[in-house]
Amino acid sequence: MLLTKIKISLLIVIFLVFAGCQSKKSSQAKNEKIKGLQAILTGEQLVDRSTQTPTDSSLYKNPELPVIDRVRDLLSYMTLEEKIGQMTQVDRQFLESDSVTPAASVNDIGTYYLGSLLSGGGSTPSKNFPKAWAEMYDGFQKIALSTRLGIPMIYGIDAVHGHNNVVGATIFPHQIGLGCTNNPQLVEDVNRATAVEIAATGIDWDFAPCLAVPRDERWGRTYEGFGETPDIVKIMAGAAVKGLQSDQLGNPTSILACAKHFIGDGGTVWGTGMNKKIDRGDTRVTEQELREIHLPGYLHALEAGVGTVMASFNQVNGDHCHGNKYLLTDLLKKELGFEGFVVSDWEGIDQIEGDYKFDIITSINAGIDMVMVPGAAKWGGQKYTDFINLCIEAVNEGFISERRINDAVARILRIKFKMGLFERPYSDKSLLSKVGSKEHRKIAREAVRQSLVVLKNDGVLPLPKDLGHIHVAGKNADDLGNQCGGWTITWQGESGPLTKGTTIYEAIQIAVSSFTNVTFSKDGSGAKGADIGIVVIGETPYAEMEGDRESLALDKKDLAVIGRIRKAGVPVVVIIVSGRPLMITDELDKWGGVIAAWLPGSEGKGITDVIFGDYNPTGRLSVTWPRNMAQIPINFGDTDYDPLFEYGFGLSY
Ligand code: GLC
Repeated sequence: MLLTKIKISLLIVIFLVFAGCQSKKSSQAKNEKIKGLQAILTGEQLVDRSTQTPTDSSLYKNPELPVIDRVRDLLSYMTLEEKIGQMTQVDRQFLESDSVTPAASVNDIGTYYLGSLLSGGGSTPSKNFPKAWAEMYDGFQKIALSTRLGIPMIYGIDAVHGHNNVVGATIFPHQIGLGCTNNPQLVEDVNRATAVEIAATGIDWDFAPCLAVPRDERWGRTYEGFGETPDIVKIMAGAAVKGLQSDQLGNPTSILACAKHFIGDGGTVWGTGMNKKIDRGDTRVTEQELREIHLPGYLHALEAGVGTVMASFNQVNGDHCHGNKYLLTDLLKKELGFEGFVVSDWEGIDQIEGDYKFDIITSINAGIDMVMVPGAAKWGGQKYTDFINLCIEAVNEGFISERRINDAVARILRIKFKMGLFERPYSDKSLLSKVGSKEHRKIAREAVRQSLVVLKNDGVLPLPKDLGHIHVAGKNADDLGNQCGGWTITWQGESGPLTKGTTIYEAIQIAVSSFTNVTFSKDGSGAKGADIGIVVIGETPYAEMEGDRESLALDKKDLAVIGRIRKAGVPVVVIIVSGRPLMITDELDKWGGVIAAWLPGSEGKGITDVIFGDYNPTGRLSVTWPRNMAQIPINFGDTDYDPLFEYGFGLSY
């Protein structure tokens, strides 16, 4: 009897344990389903209409229907070639046949059902003015719409401080300066104005905001981040996304935003990057550090509804982000519920170890939805036809599942429907007058004023406007290209009058009274007798790995300019135009006033507003200003934290 009782209770225990496991499994299965699109798609066998031709009454063409119904309907018509085409992004420059890509043609947009085009930095139409961009865009779109299913392409560009590839566009301060404003509303306004200028050229997608948290100023992309703490990045992330996308995708000038580069681009270690420097290197962090330092910006961007995320070139603890399923799918899509789509960086999948087909399989299975191929063997990259053919092969061989492809394509289509691209696929040329408008330049001038940080003032500032003689000097005093920095008209940016704007020297001439004598010399000669010397020094333009520098010492030529003016017995105010802090400790006591102007962009009058006291400076450092190179990396919150100027420092009058 006792034995029977034991047997029965054992059976009950086994049953309870089994039932528990089952419910755990089913709840796990429930969790398995990625929220949103995939959940719907795996819940049903897609109807296969790929051999049918849609009619005007096909569901996906009806804007009144819910987006998910349009996605499901359109997907059912798509062949594998059309699906892979949607996942392919090509730079416009590789559609022009040349010696390296003789066979290329704009008609490839239709032949390969390309879902997206881009302009990489400097990839501009031969005539670089706003109307030419809009006409170029419309020409590409017409070809995309001529395909069997008429799916509009989406065009991406790096408008990271205004619509910076376009001559005549307003150039705003780079994000390091915006971080020093501590003003999210201003950041939203800057991005809203940028969005209008982008929309005026037809373009729909901005690879911005960069949510890097730069922890080592030697990194060439330091200026692309808002600052060195998650606190400053997270308050700006949502504002930037809201500015670009407006309160919802699909509004007339709403531009699809792209939180980048996921994840940890600002945390790489010197010596692990390209050319043994730091860009695209290895971010060595614990899971906790990754989540505390590099993730918060993305949480706020997701909360603001950002439609895309760009994968990052760096590795995290040796693992390439582009092939990291934990980061791209488990963390971003499952845990955080991201339902937009993930785009690779430029040839980003190529850096994964292994041959190109392996890169494709690894990255798409990790969670990349669209691949910025971007085009051709011109720079040793892959041709977009290689990507397409190898991807189709990988699916047919079962290395990439149809389900994964459907998820990626559904994510892309969902965004295109939400953006209203099917209903409004062409540019709105009525917006063209907004590009570089007075109204936008006013916003940029305000952003410049609020971004400046006064580091030293022995009482010399603000300067009176009626001084007898002001001498202006330095390589960055009368050089619009230098004050704009990288990502301006070309990828690297360049010195000289490369677009429309006001240099600092021009702004000084405008600001002072008519009888003030303003003289200028780049090298500092001829200053004798001046009441004050305003010397504008710093860095010349660079972008990405080209800006990685082992030393951030001042340019010797800059020191010589200052030396000449001081030798003439003239006191100096020094303005530093640079993408990051430079080493000024040994010179500081010789200078009366010092202003960090970062990379202010086209509106130099924002600087004279501060110099001459029309605006009482409010800027506060969003990055620590190191005492010397030995301190780097040095960040707010470090234990032995003893910089020259600490995070949050800034003087007012
Ligand atoms: C670049 C950058 C990325 C940019 C992309 C397209 O290499 O890493 O920020 O959006 O390529 O230009």
